[in-house]
Amino acid sequence: MPPHIRAMNWRTDRAAVLSFQKEIYETNFPGFRMSVGFLRDYEAQLRQALRSQMERVMVLEDEQGVCGLVWLSLITTMVEPLVGYIKNIYVAPRLRGAGWGRALLDEADRWFQQNGCPKAALDATIANERAVNTYLQTGYVPVRYRMEKHYHAPDTIPGASGDSA
Ligand SMILES: CC(C)(COP(=O)(O)OP(=O)(O)OC[C@H]1O[C@@H](n2cnc3c(N)ncnc32)[C@H](O)[C@@H]1OP(=O)(O)O)[C@@H](O)C(=O)NCCC(=O)NCCS
Repeated sequence: MPPHIRAMNWRTDRAAVLSFQKEIYETNFPGFRMSVGFLRDYEAQLRQALRSQMERVMVLEDEQGVCGLVWLSLITTMVEPLVGYIKNIYVAPRLRGAGWGRALLDEADRWFQQNGCPKAALDATIANERAVNTYLQTGYVPVRYRMEKHYHAPDTIPGASGDSA
């Protein structure tokens, strides 16, 4: 079975999707260490997302199993009534660089446009060059800086903010 993208099924795909989160969050939030509590909260939010009309979770699957994920959300902000927001994207290491990240982002474009979004947005970690390149290559442009000032050395930070990755 070649890789294909389909809607996430809670019962069959949950374990694989949860297994991706350690890499996603520990890569994108340096100093953060995945905990049981974090994963439990993530799982609860994911379950809620699957029941919501405002969110969509798609997985990538091949003969070895579930090997990618994109979690989409229709959000409003203080200044914008409707934005398509990418909450999470992941492609298993064995499939990276073969266009599957781009394919998941194409799915996001389709769903956001079907739902009337005038634009899509996401947050990216500058040091995650592969992810940033993927977004630049698929039409995303940086529009704001998120700036941080550290009071402690990064390796002593006890946890990271619960932002989307
Ligand atoms: C980010 C991620 C989803 C990209 O998926 P991918 O399948 O490797 O991406 P693609 O193969 O579709 O590549 C898309 C673009 O990324 C860039 N890219 C791919 N591999 C790259 C590499 N090794 N280094 C730098 N850029 C690279 C290329 O510019 C490519 O554009 P092109 O198709 O015009 O050549 C994947 O690397 C991943 O899951 N990373 C870990 C999880 C993560 O950090 N998620 C992002 C949270 S913000």
